[in-house]
Amino acid sequence: MADLTRYGVSIDCSLSERFDRLIKAKGYSSRSEAIRDLIRDRLVEEEWEAGGEETIGVITLLYDHQQRELSQKLTHSQHSHHAKTVSSLHIHLDSSNCLEVIVLRASAARVRRLADRLISTRGVKHGKLIMTSTGRQLA
Ligand code: NI
Repeated sequence: MADLTRYGVSIDCSLSERFDRLIKAKGYSSRSEAIRDLIRDRLVEEEWEAGGEETIGVITLLYDHQQRELSQKLTHSQHSHHAKTVSSLHIHLDSSNCLEVIVLRASAARVRRLADRLISTRGVKHGKLIMTSTGRQLA
């Protein structure tokens, strides 16, 4: 197990009470675990802002496969970045809607570029990029 550091934090009472209500609602077993998650989340953001580190991006795309040439366009964009694609998943949600989930491993800038390209493709009803980390820098 990693070495632990303990430190006290002075915090305004009303802010602390709000935070305690939030972490209880989220199901955290302790304040420490909630604070560790906040710190990790900020560090992942930092990794993304720095841009050079290898990161993980998860892109979700919701689209109508009956829209002319859309499936081919999305597939073409992904094939041109095949080396960065770890996995992809396609779900036929109903007779027309498809959900595609693409997991990429690359620098943040590259992941963001492909995500922007896919999400902005005409006909994509909803697209999201979830930014996460390879976890190497996180305890
Ligand atoms: Ni489908």
